[in-house]
Amino acid sequence: MSKLVITDLHASVETEDGPKEILKGVTLTINEGETHAIMGPNGSGKSTLAYSIAGHPKYTITSGSVTLDGQDILGLSVDERARAGLFLAMQYPVEVPGVSVANFLRTAKTAIDGEAPKLRTWVKDVNSALEALNLDSSFSQRSVNEGFSGGEKKRHEIAQLDLLDPKVAVLDETDSGLDIDALKIVSEGVNRFREREGKGVLLITHYTRILRYIEPDFVHVFVDGRVAESGGKELADQLEAEGYDKYLKAPAAR
Ligand SMILES: Nc1ncnc2c1ncn2[C@@H]1O[C@H](COP(=O)(O)OP(=O)(O)OP(=O)(O)O)[C@@H](O)[C@H]1O
Ligand SMILES: [Mg+2]
Repeated sequence: MSKLVITDLHASVETEDGPKEILKGVTLTINEGETHAIMGPNGSGKSTLAYSIAGHPKYTITSGSVTLDGQDILGLSVDERARAGLFLAMQYPVEVPGVSVANFLRTAKTAIDGEAPKLRTWVKDVNSALEALNLDSSFSQRSVNEGFSGGEKKRHEIAQLDLLDPKVAVLDETDSGLDIDALKIVSEGVNRFREREGKGVLLITHYTRILRYIEPDFVHVFVDGRVAESGGKELADQLEAEGYDKYLKAPAAR
């Protein structure tokens, strides 16, 4: 049973003026089969939360805990976290010149499974994952993210999600920069993942548009480094109509 439990997580980043606290007590539980959407103003710490869960070295966890299936993951390295079943689709995927998509995917799959995927089925799997995201099979020979359009980067992230098959996927603004067709294609990719047994999704977004395709079970408003309010999917519509004003004006009440 996959379950990601984040408890009172505090994280800071090193700046020229010393450490700056970005996450100020995040508490969130994602049970298997659940999709949680996080919405919040720019700079509120959403990506920091995603990176902190994934183990980015730039962020220091100062207190709190994150467990996956009861296992403390904060003590694990980035690759150990991936092997434990965590996946992060980054807001700004990094370019890896000289490493082809095919090699990258195969290396990642091998590292995560602990053995190399069988060549014949693997090539088929890769091609069908790319095809499902409307990416040409020649795409696999290109360097990872180098020269990819914004939409291609995001679709490539979802191809990874499909092939690497984690337990919990953290998707950081996977909808940004997508045209209308690509948004549908990416959403369908996420939904196929969600339909698999025991998966959890944490979807960070600014727009309710994607939530029409990927229906969240819960919506959280993220303000100033913590969850300010949680609700059902109606909360997203309320945010779209009203903005974040009421959360920004009354931080002391939280
Ligand atoms: N190295 C750094 N030095 C100083 N401040 C930093 C550093 N890294 C992150 N921050 C700050 O941390 C805050 C949270 O950033 P984060 O990227 O997590 O926000 P976000 O909620 O994802 O925003 P967006 O919606 O724009 O993606 C921002 O104010 C950002 O400037
Ligand atoms: Mg962000």
